[in-house]
Amino acid sequence: MDYLQLRVLPLLALLASLIYFFYFQDSPTLFERSDCSLFPYNHYWIISKRIVTPHGVISGAVEVKEEKIVSIIKEEDWHGNLKKGQIIDYGEAVVMPGLIDVHAHLNDPGRTEWEGFPSGTRAAAAGGITTLIDMPLNNFPATVSAETLKLKIDAAEKNIYVDVGFWGGLVPENAFDANSLEALLSAGALGLKSFMCPSGINDFPMTNSSHIKEGLSILAKYRRPLLVHAEIPQDSESHLENGENDPRSYSTYLKTRPPSWEEAAIRELLTVSKDTRIGGPAEGAHLHVVHLSDAGSSLQLLKEAKSNGDSVTVETCPHYLAFSAEEIKDGDTCFKCAPPIRDAANKERLWTALLEGDIDMLSSDHSPSVPDLKLFDEGNFLKAWGGISSLQVGLSFITNSYNCFISTMPIHVKLYWLTSSRCNLVVIQNIVLQCARLEFQRVGLSSLKLEIVIWWTWITGY
Ligand SMILES: *[C@@H]1O[C@H](CO)[C@@H](O)[C@H](O)[C@H]1NC(C)=O
Ligand SMILES: [Zn+2]
Repeated sequence: MDYLQLRVLPLLALLASLIYFFYFQDSPTLFERSDCSLFPYNHYWIISKRIVTPHGVISGAVEVKEEKIVSIIKEEDWHGNLKKGQIIDYGEAVVMPGLIDVHAHLNDPGRTEWEGFPSGTRAAAAGGITTLIDMPLNNFPATVSAETLKLKIDAAEKNIYVDVGFWGGLVPENAFDANSLEALLSAGALGLKSFMCPSGINDFPMTNSSHIKEGLSILAKYRRPLLVHAEIPQDSESHLENGENDPRSYSTYLKTRPPSWEEAAIRELLTVSKDTRIGGPAEGAHLHVVHLSDAGSSLQLLKEAKSNGDSVTVETCPHYLAFSAEEIKDGDTCFKCAPPIRDAANKERLWTALLEGDIDMLSSDHSPSVPDLKLFDEGNFLKAWGGISSLQVGLSFITNSYNCFISTMPIHVKLYWLTSSRCNLVVIQNIVLQCARLEFQRVGLSSLKLEIVIWWTWITGY
């Protein structure tokens, strides 16, 4: 009898799990993208010791009903209100709002061999990002008109696994064409993006300060931001003349894009950003500097502009916070991006600026290409495609790196704050992006969509 029990029980368990498996495999709703659910119940609780809320990190439960967050309950308050069997216990895992990435290049349509919406948005979901805003390049054609935006929206339809919004492009061709820019913004572009240096893509030419001024004046009407790649090539320093500069060495690449490029661009931007002040000719528009790498004069200039009342914000990226030039091996072109990853001292200053709030947000600047363009065999930093693919791993980059910095604030709290402030950028655009869902515990809870990220980190400290 005992023997029989020993044989039968595991078999029953196996049978039960198979039934469970097939039942859910066959369930028509569980794996449907539109109403993806963690759990087969309409009403359930996600519990964790670390739920990040605007009022601090709590041990408690997130109550979910019909895929919406209906309440957040502290452990000491739940008094047997949670139904047994309808609880997912994540233990010490961090439960917080899904991240918003305001800067990703998904290259769809036109360069889907680099990456398209299906894989890009799955990577985002895996990386904790539940909303991303797609850049107007390196898709083809570039998103610089209402017509090309329509192509993007068509390409995204039924192909995305997270919420996606779109930036439009500000280029010389449309900058002085108010009708074209207005059509692009009316068609749903959340704001505009432009480059102050060559973008690396021929169909997306760079703008000068006159184009940017024009762009801001249109954006003011729509209360949306202009995102600028702030580097202006400088003659000095950047020339590699003698044969000593090995293109496989990262330091060679670093010398070609010194901080003075960022500084020059920001200095020029600030001549037009003053238009965004209250009472200024472009009041309502907003200027956002993307992927800042230079934590020196460039950052200082931005701080001054903010204190003068310019409507300006700045982002940096996980790779600038996680890596430093000293660590990048010869030929390892994975790390090539622009502006470049600078030295360890700069990295430390970026961290300080982020923790002190001088850097407003993080974005991935996820920018993939086909592997061939990275020239992995040759390892030539000067010729390889500049772009880092990080949608899926950005969160772990910064979490790992954060470990090295002493701070009283745990990184997930900081990320919560950043997510909220990113959300504010979206609010500036006056566009409904379900930002409200980030505000756990606010009025109208029942309308909050369930978009949270659950992740593990060994960092505690609160
Ligand atoms: C920017 O380029 C345009 C041509 O597209 C030109 O008319 C304008 O003068 C330039 N502005 C500056 C500040 O160089
Ligand atoms: Zn970018």
